[in-house]
Amino acid sequence: MAAVKLRNKPSVGWLPLILFSTSNLTTTAQLVDLPQEVVINSGRPTFYTPGSPLSGKIALEEHVGNTLFSGVYTPPPVNFTNEPAFDLAIYDADVSSRLNDIDTRVAAMNAANISMSVVIFGAPGIHGIFNTTFATIAATYVNDEAAQTYNHGSHSSRFDFWCSNALQDPISAAAELERCVKHPGGVDSFVGGYTNNGSENSIISLDDPVNDVFLAKVAELDVPIHLHLREAAPNQHRVYQDYSIMAGSPWGFAAEIGAHALRIMMSGVLDTYPNLKIILGHCGEGLPFFMPRIESRLRHAIHSYPAKQNLTYYWNRNFYVTTSGIQSKAVLDLTLASLGEDRVMLSVDYPFEDDVELGTWFDRIEMSVGAKEKIASENARNILKLR
Ligand SMILES: *[C@@H]1O[C@H](CO)[C@@H](O)[C@H](O)[C@H]1NC(C)=O
Ligand SMILES: *[C@@H]1O[C@H](CO)[C@@H](O)[C@H](O)[C@H]1NC(C)=O
Ligand SMILES: *[C@@H]1O[C@H](CO)[C@@H](O)[C@H](O)[C@H]1NC(C)=O
Ligand SMILES: *[C@@H]1O[C@H](CO)[C@@H](O)[C@H](O)[C@H]1NC(C)=O
Ligand SMILES: *[C@@H]1O[C@H](CO)[C@@H](O)[C@H](O)[C@H]1NC(C)=O
Repeated sequence: MAAVKLRNKPSVGWLPLILFSTSNLTTTAQLVDLPQEVVINSGRPTFYTPGSPLSGKIALEEHVGNTLFSGVYTPPPVNFTNEPAFDLAIYDADVSSRLNDIDTRVAAMNAANISMSVVIFGAPGIHGIFNTTFATIAATYVNDEAAQTYNHGSHSSRFDFWCSNALQDPISAAAELERCVKHPGGVDSFVGGYTNNGSENSIISLDDPVNDVFLAKVAELDVPIHLHLREAAPNQHRVYQDYSIMAGSPWGFAAEIGAHALRIMMSGVLDTYPNLKIILGHCGEGLPFFMPRIESRLRHAIHSYPAKQNLTYYWNRNFYVTTSGIQSKAVLDLTLASLGEDRVMLSVDYPFEDDVELGTWFDRIEMSVGAKEKIASENARNILKLR
């Protein structure tokens, strides 16, 4: 049984408030009912705390596998391109067993009042395949398979999927994106960080001019890009020596994809394609925190990059974020202050994270109902043009 610790509001703060607000019982009652942050320190089963469940939530970064290549590891496996293993065997076993189990997934969604999951492969997805011919064939295969499994299966009303794009060959990727969005009915485009070009340290960013043909198609189709994370290339791992776990989801993923997002802002591609919508997970991979500092320094270096505007301009015009894997009201508040309530969308990161844990955390946080509904589902419906 998972050890569950309730971190209550410090009692020292309550006493004076209760003493001095006896004339305002509503305030006191609200204080007592304040949402609690709940910390669990091991795997499932997780807690359930009654709150006010919000129905119809949509989650956008929900991971699945496929039958062609590992949904969570680089094909071919190369050390330091896969996330290092976690040492809690119960966790790894649980994640693996959930990845492709649709009934268990739907039960978890039901328990968390999540009505729809938009499914995506884990890091690095198709972008980690070294063989361009194989990657291009694989994209079509896995897009058709995802459509068959999730858009036509027994729970088809509960799922949509992100199209995979083999940017190893950007011209074919553009054609496949159009096919995937129009025919199998994928919602938009999933770009898994940089793309390998033949070997583990040969990498191409989305802002490379070779990808213009793909970005032009994304702009024409008016679909968002989910810029999903992956580990930095192996020759960029020196800083993680002795602490390889930090190269993955605890930190390195965010550092890598945050830098990738900054490259896109600095490159000028957002001047060429002003309508691109780029979605980042994990409350923006640290950027809401870093943007003020970045801007403060770059104002002394405005000619050092091709983009016409400052980075905040693109951040506020072209970027959207999900809350995947984040369970901190402070971080959510900072993200909302940085981007506004129309650009933040709920997500979980299942099965790496827990639907009930994150879904009910979101249910219980204090926020205006309007903003909460936008974040829970309305923004996703609009931005992804969901059915
Ligand atoms: C939330 O889910 C629970 C469990 O499935 C269900 O009993 C409840 O009616 C749902 N609430 C809303 C508001 O959808
Ligand atoms: C990969 O890592 C494993 C264990 O950490 C090690 O035994 C193996 O030699 C490494 N392989 C390469 C090619 O570096
Ligand atoms: C690349 O993939 C194609 C298609 O699967 C295959 O025919 C070819 O042999 C592969 N090339 C290498 C070098 O493995
Ligand atoms: C990818 O690798 C090939 C073979 O080394 C090279 O010719 C090509 O220029 C590379 N593409 C990019 C965009 O760097
Ligand atoms: C960025 O540029 C816009 C004008 O394009 C300006 O309104 C804004 O104040 C600038 N922001 C920062 C942080 O420099």
